[in-house]
Amino acid sequence: MPAQSESDTNSGTRRDDWNRGHPDTLVERDAAVYLHQAVSTPVLTGIVGAEGVHLVGSDGTRYLDFHGNSAHQLGYGHPRIIAALTEQLQALPFVPRRFTSAVSVEFAEKLLSVAPAGLDRMLMTTGGSDAVEVALKLARAKTGRFKTVSFWEAFHGAGFGAASVGGEQLFRTGPIGPLLTGTEHVPPIGCYRDRFGAGHRFDQPHTESCGRTLAELIDYTLRVQGDVAALVAEPMRAVPEMAAPGFWRAVRRSCDDTGTVLVFDEIPTGLGRTGRLWSSSHEGTVPDILVVGKGLGGGAMPVAAVLATDEFDVGADWAFGHYTHEKNPLMARAGLTTLQVIEEEGLVENSARLGAVALSRGRELASRYDSIGDVRGRGLMIGLELVSRDDGRTPDNDLAEAVLYAALRRGLSFKTTMGNVLTLSPALVITDEQLDEAFGILEDAFAEVS
Ligand SMILES: Cc1ncc(COP(=O)(O)O)c(C=O)c1O
Repeated sequence: MPAQSESDTNSGTRRDDWNRGHPDTLVERDAAVYLHQAVSTPVLTGIVGAEGVHLVGSDGTRYLDFHGNSAHQLGYGHPRIIAALTEQLQALPFVPRRFTSAVSVEFAEKLLSVAPAGLDRMLMTTGGSDAVEVALKLARAKTGRFKTVSFWEAFHGAGFGAASVGGEQLFRTGPIGPLLTGTEHVPPIGCYRDRFGAGHRFDQPHTESCGRTLAELIDYTLRVQGDVAALVAEPMRAVPEMAAPGFWRAVRRSCDDTGTVLVFDEIPTGLGRTGRLWSSSHEGTVPDILVVGKGLGGGAMPVAAVLATDEFDVGADWAFGHYTHEKNPLMARAGLTTLQVIEEEGLVENSARLGAVALSRGRELASRYDSIGDVRGRGLMIGLELVSRDDGRTPDNDLAEAVLYAALRRGLSFKTTMGNVLTLSPALVITDEQLDEAFGILEDAFAEVS
């Protein structure tokens, strides 16, 4: 079965070449004890250090980490995270369910105070997939309905519920058996690969027409049934991929008209990644439920949360997210400190400023290489889509993988999404010089493989 989300970077001849050139006993020991899975294990290399925007490999190589699973807004080992977690470990490391702590409450108060308007209740989970599943339960409880509409190719987590609303075949097919019923899907957002139109490159204006048919399809799907509980979506996909102007406002109207709950998953795109604190704010659209995670743990702790309007406080007689760590003080401290650092160190502004630089460097590169079909993104989430030079459209996964390894050998790590999109998402603490260094490496990598 082909891996759809990322190129098969843990198999294939380029991977074999990499492993031969980077013998690492840690990789072998890891592969001997962890269950193998696509795009995960066996791993690429062992990591012995992580500091700021860098990872340090087993052989001492320093990698500029432009991947970070989008969990490294603050970079690694931020001194304030280290100090806060050390202090919290000594003061109060855990509270069991049915108890709370000052920091558990302070974290929730802080997160809700910076959340989009109207979201005034939350629940903490240890992972994004769990938070998405809590969102599904809240939508069911509030509406008395069970169906969902979501997007093909989207990833919302690996749990059964999250994979059911997800649209990636890697997580839906194979030997795992039936998923949730009532999970309907529509084609993905995006203008370059608009499924219903001509498609727009970055140098052509993106108009409302590129998303209109999809918005109409969603409107029809919600209206013709009239009993859909929730529409679940990433307002901006981490591919990256953005919706057409006005698209989300139209979908918001369709949800309102049909009593459908709008759930936005900002797990990779929230917390400043896109040059605004929330990526949905680019769209002028506020969801009923917002899911956040990844960077919320300060690059150190697993922390996610589901935020909802007061109307969703309907579960007092049931249990939707009865998690062991639902008020964990260490997780809460990581979340609270992360929000404070983002605010006090101007990381959203840095993301917007350096994101614009990255976008123009990417577009400059595209002017030199026909194989770069599109360059898009917001803030520090930029994608270069590689396509066949013959038709300028067919995804070129092989070239993407060649560039990936050429960059890795020079000390730059990033992810290829959907197989052919070089996805660049550095820590938001990155400097001008470090960004310049990364693009220098990328240029050398293109020169080598072209
Ligand atoms: C959009 C989106 N939703 C949900 C998840 C799942 O988060 P987690 O891996 O913390 O369960 C991810 C993780 O990559 C994601 O990108």
